[in-house]
Amino acid sequence: MITDAFKASLDPSLFKLYRKYLYSRHKATAELSQAEVIHEVAKERLVRMADKFRKNAAYFDPGDQLKVIVDGSHKLASPVGMAAGFDKDCEMLAPTSYVFGFLNPGSVLKNPRKGNPQRRLAVDNDREALINAQGYPHKGLDHTVRNLQKFAAGPRGHARLLLNFSGITDTYTEDAVLDACKEIIRATSPYVDFGFEDNRASPNTDFNKKLQTPEFTKKMIDLMNSHVPPRLIKASKVAPYSALPPKEEEREARMKSIRVFYENGGQAVVLGNTRPVDTAANPLTRGFARPVAGESGRPLFPYMLRMVEDVHREFPGLTIIACGGIWNGEDAWQALQKGATLVQLYTALTFQGFGIVREIHDTLKKKLAGDTLQAFMEKRGRSSG
Ligand code: FNR
Repeated sequence: MITDAFKASLDPSLFKLYRKYLYSRHKATAELSQAEVIHEVAKERLVRMADKFRKNAAYFDPGDQLKVIVDGSHKLASPVGMAAGFDKDCEMLAPTSYVFGFLNPGSVLKNPRKGNPQRRLAVDNDREALINAQGYPHKGLDHTVRNLQKFAAGPRGHARLLLNFSGITDTYTEDAVLDACKEIIRATSPYVDFGFEDNRASPNTDFNKKLQTPEFTKKMIDLMNSHVPPRLIKASKVAPYSALPPKEEEREARMKSIRVFYENGGQAVVLGNTRPVDTAANPLTRGFARPVAGESGRPLFPYMLRMVEDVHREFPGLTIIACGGIWNGEDAWQALQKGATLVQLYTALTFQGFGIVREIHDTLKKKLAGDTLQAFMEKRGRSSG
């Protein structure tokens, strides 16, 4: 039996009321936008409810039908994951490990970092979107490792960890990025049981753009090949198309980078990150400190779907993790039909709560009729590959 505040939080319509209440109670601070303050409040409550999640683990266990095997050997209990940015510092691993098939903590950085100054995060309630220019706030690698140790020592659910990292430090050179990545992988790999995900795809730092070339992608995959333990997968996060339909030149550039990653040993891509938008063009973001921010949530869905389709057609053997605007089970099903193996969410969780994960499980099971997800994917591979 699920009871009280925990139960209420899992009903998306009750969650919406709770969300409204939080927005009426909490205001922005000097350092954090209102939505970030609320994220911190929700995080604290979530951590206190870890035991409730453990006791009610069956609620989020989809059973055998949705089990999925990634890259031949990585068994996940569900194809639904939490996207990067939600748990940047590995502080919510215990409670959320009972909800998702995989967690994508990070982006983990080597050094503590404040991120961009305010304002840096706006909520667009009408379009069900977030617009963020956080610029990688992070408490640093040592804090992350302590939290990973705690997670490894305590009770935990079935979620596996795909750790998302960024080599950004205060030294803006390629070598400094590669050194920081090496250090992050070395310090965290004893606690990681699914894989590592390279993130150069955030639009919130100018330097990231310089790292999105095929040449730097080759350096990154070489580094991952020599430092990620062979038992783990190597994934890379990709920026979405800037417009739909995509310009041919942009499509080719994305495919070229993905090809370099894949042909040199990369096993998965996350499609994708937030979409760059001009902050001066939108009244909601006019006060932002940065000219460009990343839009996530519902408006991102068609961009994600198009890239999943293009990448699956071009690289049928590459594992795709669909990320961008997935709001419900119907959306997740569309992504799987286009070629994704896994899906993950951020913005939908902030609007609807974790109950949406159960809805996605239930809808996927209905869509699959009697099939298992694994059988569906094998058939899909044969017809499209
Ligand atoms: C993000 N995202 C993100 N991604 C990443 O690789 N590292 C990060 O640190 C962050 N941080 C972050 C903060 C905030 C406030 C948001 C809204 C998003 C991007 C996220 O993982 C995802 O790619 C996009 O949000 C698209 O998915 P949704 O939100 O539409 O489901």
